Amino acid sequence: MKKFSILIICLFGYFSTQAQSSKIPSSVENVEKKVDSVLALMTLEEKVGQLVQYNGSWDLTGPASELGNKQKEENLKKGMVGSMLNVLSVEATTEAQKMVMENSRLGIPLMFGYDVIHGYKTMFPVPLGETASWDLKAMERSAQIAALESVAHGVNWTFSPMIDISRDARWGRIMEGSGEDPFLTSQVAVAKIKGYQGEDLADPKTIAATAKHFAGYGLAEAGRDYNTVHLGENELHNTVLPPFKAAANAGVATFMNSFNDLDGTPATGSKYLQRDILKGAWEWKGFVVSDWGSITEMVNHGFARDKKHAAEIALKAGSDMDMEGGAYEAGLVELVKEGDLDERLIDDAVKRVLRVKFKMGLFEDPYRYSDPEMAKNLNMEEHLKVARDVARKSIVLLKNENDLLPLKPSGKTTIAVIGPLADDKDTPIGNWRAQGETNSAVSVLEGVENAVGKEVKVTYAKGAALGVGERSFLMPLKINKNDRSGFAEAIKKAKSADLVIMVLGEDAFQSGEGRSQVNIGLEGLQQELLEAVSKVNENIVLVLINGRPLEITWSSENIPAIVEAWQLGSESGNAIADVLFGKYNPSGKLPVSFPRAVGQEPLYYNQKNTGRPFNPEHVTYSAYTDVEKDALYPFGFGLSYTTFEYGDLELSSEEMDADSELTVTVPVKNTGKVIGKEVVQLYLRDLVASTTRPVKELKAFELVELQPGETKEVKFTITEEMLQFYNADKEWASEEGEFQVMVGGNSRDLKVESFRFN
Ligand code: BGC
Repeated sequence: MKKFSILIICLFGYFSTQAQSSKIPSSVENVEKKVDSVLALMTLEEKVGQLVQYNGSWDLTGPASELGNKQKEENLKKGMVGSMLNVLSVEATTEAQKMVMENSRLGIPLMFGYDVIHGYKTMFPVPLGETASWDLKAMERSAQIAALESVAHGVNWTFSPMIDISRDARWGRIMEGSGEDPFLTSQVAVAKIKGYQGEDLADPKTIAATAKHFAGYGLAEAGRDYNTVHLGENELHNTVLPPFKAAANAGVATFMNSFNDLDGTPATGSKYLQRDILKGAWEWKGFVVSDWGSITEMVNHGFARDKKHAAEIALKAGSDMDMEGGAYEAGLVELVKEGDLDERLIDDAVKRVLRVKFKMGLFEDPYRYSDPEMAKNLNMEEHLKVARDVARKSIVLLKNENDLLPLKPSGKTTIAVIGPLADDKDTPIGNWRAQGETNSAVSVLEGVENAVGKEVKVTYAKGAALGVGERSFLMPLKINKNDRSGFAEAIKKAKSADLVIMVLGEDAFQSGEGRSQVNIGLEGLQQELLEAVSKVNENIVLVLINGRPLEITWSSENIPAIVEAWQLGSESGNAIADVLFGKYNPSGKLPVSFPRAVGQEPLYYNQKNTGRPFNPEHVTYSAYTDVEKDALYPFGFGLSYTTFEYGDLELSSEEMDADSELTVTVPVKNTGKVIGKEVVQLYLRDLVASTTRPVKELKAFELVELQPGETKEVKFTITEEMLQFYNADKEWASEEGEFQVMVGGNSRDLKVESFRFN
C-alpha cells in the first residue's frame, strides 16, 4: 500500500482536477501530462514490465510461456506485467489486480484482455454471418452487449474486431471477419468499435477494442493459416489497410499485429506497417499488442537469431506489448543496457500503454471493471432477444424456387427435420465462443417445434453424424466418413413427410484459427445423405450452418430452397424458424462470394479486369475451361420473400469535380406481396487510372424497408473522397477521367451510368 501511495501523491494534482464519475470523458491533454508524470517515476525494468502480457491459465491459443505460475505471480507483484489475457471472473481479475496494486512499487493497474469475438456469454452470429445483416446498428448493439457481459466478469479489453480482408474460403478464420470487401469491413469495424468502446473508454460498461491482425493475415497463400502473404504495396493500401485506417480514425484503443510474413518481413517486425503507417502517417496514439508469441515466432520465420534478437526487431518496428511470448521480458532490459536499443523507443511504447490505461480510468479506480454486483444485474433475457433479432437479420436466402418458402404448414402437414446439425445445440455457438456454453443454442429442431405448435407433426432423424470423437478448440475435427447406420431412418422419415428441412454444414470447430481446409463442400457423408433424401422427397429446404462459404453447386441445381444460416449463436434455431415460417422476411446479403468450385478460390467480386477479361469465342481469356469464372452466389446477393425492382439511375450531373458532389437517385420498388427490406448497394469503377483498378468497388449502401407496391427514391451522394485510391505516386488521390456508377441489390445485377470527374 505504501508503494501505491507514492503514485497517488505524485499524481494528486491531476487527479484532483479529474471528476471521479465515469460519465465525464477524460481530457486528452490531461492524460498526456499524467502519462509523462508516471513515466518519469519508472525504472527501466518497470517500463519493460508494462510491455509484457501474461496468459491467465486457460483458453490457450498457442504454445504457453516457459514461466510457471509461481514465477508469473512474483512478477505481477513486482509490477513487471502490463496486462493479462484469459483471466475470466471478477474474483480472478480482482486477485490479479491486487497482486499488482498491493505489492508493486508504483501500482500501475493491469488490463485484462480476452477474445470476445461474437459475444461473451450470449452468443451472437459469428462475425462473417453478422456482417451478412449489413445492419450496422444491430452490429453496434451486439458489441455493446458483449462489452457489458465482459466487464461484468472482469474483462475490460477485447481482441476484436478482426478486420482482415479474406477472400479465400479455405482459410478457417474467414468466419471471424467481415469478408472480402474493404468498404463493408470498414463500416463494420467502426460499428463494432463504437459498440465496444462507447463514447468514453472510462465508462465501466465499455471495453477497449482491438483492430486485428495488422496486416495481411487474411490473404495467407492457398488459404493455409499462418502462411506467407504475397501482397504488393498497391493491394496492401487499397484493399487491406482501409478497414484498419477506419478503425484508427474511430479511436480504437489497441491494434494487434499478425503472424504472417508480408513480402519478406513478418508483420510483427514490420517498421513500415507499425511505425511508418500506423503511428506515423495515421498518427494513431494507442498501443500495438503482438499476436500470441508472434515476436518469438520471428525466430522460426528465420528473421531473428533468437528471442532477444526478436525482441529487438519487434520493439524497433513498433510492436509495443508482447503477448505471452516472453521475448520482451527476457531481452529488452539487456538490449538497452548494451546500447542496442534506444530507451526512448521503450518510453514511447510505455506511454502508449499508460495512455490507454488512463483513458480506461484504471488509475482512478483499478477495480472499476471488477464489480461483483454487475453480473447479477445483467438483463440476460433482453440480451437473448437482441441475439435472436441480429441472428435472423444475418440469414441469407440463396434460393427459393416456386416460393417454397415461407412455409405455411396446415394441421395435416408433416415436416421431417433431418441432418447431423438438425438437433445440434452446440454448432450454432461457433468457434471463438468465449464463455458461450457448450450445447446452449436453440437447435433448428427446437426452433421449428417452437414455431409450429402442436398440430403440425414434426419428425426428426440425424441421418449421419458429421464428426466423430472429441470436439475441441485445439484439436482438428475427425469427420465421419463411414457410419451410414442412420441413413435408413432418415430416408423413411423423409418419405413419409410433406416437406424436409435438411440441416447441413460445418461443425463449430471446422472453421476458426488453424482450421484451413482444401475441401469446402458438405463434408463427410452429408452430400450423400442429401442426395439420398432428395430421391424420396423433392420438397427440401436446405438450411446451412457454417462459418465459411461452402461449395454447394449440386444443391443449387437440385434443391428448391436454400437458406444460409451461418453459426448464428444462442438463438439460432428460433431465428431460423422465424425466417422459414415467414415471421421474418429475410434481408441478409452475402459478404463473401460463394464459389462454384473450390478451385476458384480466392474468389472476390472486386477483381481487376486483366488484359483478357472475356471472350466466349476463344479459350485464351482469363477464365476456366471447366466452370464459369464468376461466383455461384455473388457478393451482396440475397433473396427476400418479396421482389424489388430497380429503376434507371438518375445522376444530378454528368460531371463533378473536387468541389462538387454528384447525386445518384434510383427508384426501388417492392413488387411483391409482403413488406421487405433491401440492401441497396452502390459500386464505382474508375475506368482508366495510373494503376489498374477493380471492375467495381462497393462505396455506399442503404438498408430500406418497403411496403408491398411502395417505391422509394434512394439517393446516394458521390464525393471526391469516394474516388480516391492509392495511386502510382503512392498517394491517396482521385484522378480525372470517366467513372461508372452501378446500383443494385447485389454485385452482379446492377444498373449502370457514367460520369466524368474533372
Ligand atoms: C490469435 C488472436 C487471438 C490471440 C489470443 C491468437 O492465436 O491469432 O487472434 O487474439 O490468439 O487468444
